[in-house]
Amino acid sequence: MAGAGSGRSQLLSTAWTTVAEGYDRELVPRFWPWIQERLEALQQQPLPAGPLLVCGCGPGQELVSLCKQLPGRKVRGLDLAEGMVALANQRISAAGLRSVASASVGDASILADQPGTVAGILSCFTLQQIPQPASVLANWYRALAPGGIASVCYWPSAANQSEPLFSRITDPAILRQPSATTSQQAGPDWDRDITGEAVSAGAQVLLDTYAVHDMAFDSLDSYWQIMVDCGPLHSRLLRLGARHMQEAKARFLAEHDVTDQPIVLRPSSRALLLRKPRSSL
Ligand SMILES: C[S@@+](CC[C@H](N)C(=O)[O-])C[C@H]1O[C@@H](n2cnc3c(N)ncnc32)[C@H](O)[C@@H]1O
Repeated sequence: MAGAGSGRSQLLSTAWTTVAEGYDRELVPRFWPWIQERLEALQQQPLPAGPLLVCGCGPGQELVSLCKQLPGRKVRGLDLAEGMVALANQRISAAGLRSVASASVGDASILADQPGTVAGILSCFTLQQIPQPASVLANWYRALAPGGIASVCYWPSAANQSEPLFSRITDPAILRQPSATTSQQAGPDWDRDITGEAVSAGAQVLLDTYAVHDMAFDSLDSYWQIMVDCGPLHSRLLRLGARHMQEAKARFLAEHDVTDQPIVLRPSSRALLLRKPRSSL
């Protein structure tokens, strides 16, 4: 598993720091329907005493919502990108929540420091970026206190993505060079057994399903550009340069007759709810 100091983590950290404000503006509202469902799923479960942790907290919208929906608990966010953490802490301050919530820079893939102490984990749209996601999910499970819940969603592998336009922007036919920053390099169905290691460690899977919502863009061209300038394709731009991205964009747009009209995508995210049994140590 790549540590926080690895080249890959450094690239992700730089890319997400660079796009943090654009991500907050363009993609947070579009991703919100899925995130809200994961927040509600966590809120509806009985939770043991203890703090809540958001793995890959981005610009902090989930931290503020968790404080409001589950008052009385400490809420902590972890994210690789300094720029995201800065926005998250600004949001926490603006909401008057500094006494209960905080965000810090860190690698959320391991969480080895305090096993068995976290009441609830929320993680949205982060797991697909971390190598060996099944091991990461098992690590999150181990961090839970007995009775604790992990509520997770992520963008699934191409094999499990119902919206072709969504998987197409990371398809090798378009990008033509392996990715340095998504788990998709592990194969087109890298998440087939994503809960396996957590289940072997004792996790109960309360939910494993796909959630679909609309996501509107002004055009195909603008969809691509938002994903590059404000989203997950930015790390590729940093690594491979503007010319590579222009060529990839040209291949993507060439597959469609109309590229300048409004579009609505209906992507699936995979939603998981795991519980640590109360009897577990
Ligand atoms: C698509 S954003 C999601 C942010 C937020 N959860 C949301 O749904 O809007 C992915 C975030 O995961 C963070 N990230 C990626 N790998 C990480 C890791 N190993 N540990 C912590 N954060 C990570 C990135 O820096 C980025 O902010």
